[in-house]
Order: sequence, then C-alpha cells, then structure tokens
Amino acid sequence: MPDASSPTRLHSLEFHGPLSAARANRLVVRLAAAKPATVLDIGCGWGELLLRLVDAVPGAHGVGVDLNREDLARGRSTAAWRGLADRVQFVEESGIGTRRGPADVVLCVGSGHALTDAAPPDHLIGALRELRRLVNPGGRVLYAEGFWERPPTVLELSRMWPDAAAHDHCDLARLTDLAVEAGFRPLWVETAGPDEWEQFESGFQADVEEWLAANPQHPRAAELRHNADSHRASWLRGYRGILNMAYLTLIPVS
Ligand SMILES: C[S@@+](CC[C@H](N)C(=O)[O-])C[C@H]1O[C@@H](n2cnc3c(N)ncnc32)[C@H](O)[C@@H]1O
Repeated sequence: MPDASSPTRLHSLEFHGPLSAARANRLVVRLAAAKPATVLDIGCGWGELLLRLVDAVPGAHGVGVDLNREDLARGRSTAAWRGLADRVQFVEESGIGTRRGPADVVLCVGSGHALTDAAPPDHLIGALRELRRLVNPGGRVLYAEGFWERPPTVLELSRMWPDAAAHDHCDLARLTDLAVEAGFRPLWVETAGPDEWEQFESGFQADVEEWLAANPQHPRAAELRHNADSHRASWLRGYRGILNMAYLTLIPVS
C-alpha cells in the first residue's frame, strides 16, 4: 500500500535540474570521448548523469558525493538495477574540501554550493578553483551553474527566493571568464531552454500535486498546497526567463 501520509519526492524528475534527455545524451557522448577511468560527481543527488556516463565508458568507475540520504539511496538502487553497483559508489558526505579525487571527469551539476561555503559573489570562483583542483590533467569538468539572462530588477529579486540578491549570479560571459581565470578552456558552452525549465519546474511539483489531488482533506494538505503555491510563484513571477542554467564543459590547462 502506498503511504498516503506524505507525497513521494521528485519521482517525476530524471534529473534534479533543467536538463533534457537529449542534452544529457550529448553531454555523456562528449565526456565519454575523453575515456575517463574515474568520474567524480559532487552534489550528485541520485546521480543519473554519473550513472549514464559510467555506463557509456567500459571499465570506468564513479563516485557520487551528496548529503541527501534519500537521493543517494535512489542512486544506489538505480545502479544495482542497471548492473553498475560494482562500478559506482554513492557516499554520504559533504563535497566542501573533499578528499575525493582527483578524477578524469568531474561533474558538478547545479551543485556549486556543495564545493564551497564562500558567500556570493565569491562562491563561483571558489567552486571553480575546487573543480580545477579535483580534475586530472587531460580530463574534463562539467560545471552547470545558474546565471542571469539579464540583470534582475529589485522587484523581481523580491519574488525569487528569500534574500535573493543580484550578486547571487553573474551573466554567462562573466561565468565563462571566471572558468578561464580558474585555469580552464571552455570546450562547450550551452544553456538550458524554456522547455527544459518547464519540464523541470512542473516535474518538481508533480508528486505534490498528484498527492493533493488524491488527499485533498489530509491534515498536511493546506501546508503542502501553500508551499507548492509559493514555489510556483517564485518561478512564474520571479526567476522565469531571468535565471538560466549554463552547462560548461571545461578542459583544465596548466
Ligand atoms: C540541484 S541538486 C543537483 C543534483 C544533481 N547534480 C543533479 O543534477 O541531478 C543539488 C544537490 O547538492 C547537494 N548538496 C548540497 N550541499 C552539499 C554539500 N555540502 N555536499 C554535497 N552535496 C551537497 C544537495 O543535497 C542536492 O542533491
């Protein structure tokens, strides 16, 4: 019997971010071309991209690091289902100051905050320096990070998330320059499209909406409805079309 006391969590999402299957496939092909023996994923969540990359490179081994026990368990269970349990490890620990690595490919997808506790605006260079430290010579880094499509107004910031500030992100050109300053060349610069955002944001709420439809009178329904309404407002009235996600495939240089 499904437990009706709370909704499932993020089961409608393949990736925990605005990433389509088509882009993920292209990323995997590009990163696999470097023939990595080792892959490290910082802030891996359930590690879908990590699993696909290791699966695409015979003999490669991967480690995913995250603090979320439920997501790590989902990753382990998917790894076992796909016959990858002996090649991919999911570990519950912080990525900040990690002693894992260096690795041939390092993934950090929407998880820059898992690499550094530096406050904005220094968090970006802090994350990039860590990625440079963690990648082997000749390897590749995939760094997916938010950026502003245009500077947000004060009103728009007030509708995004608590204490949202202009220096939380920079623009795409500056983000890519910061990667170069940290010791990388940008192999590929690409950004999420509106469809990827709509799939992500709708999928993010879908478990809750399905549960509310099935349990409208549940004692927790009002609270969960309020949370879902707040999140949807922060997207549709706040960051939609202003915040975007860059996928930077980076080559380390000396
Ligand atoms: C937006 S999710 C991205 C997950 C995954 N990279 C993906 O794209 O599906 C950010 C992840 O960072 C993790 N995280 C946050 N702080 C962390 C830390 N200090 N160390 C490791 N993981 C952390 C969260 O638990 C969450 O799973």
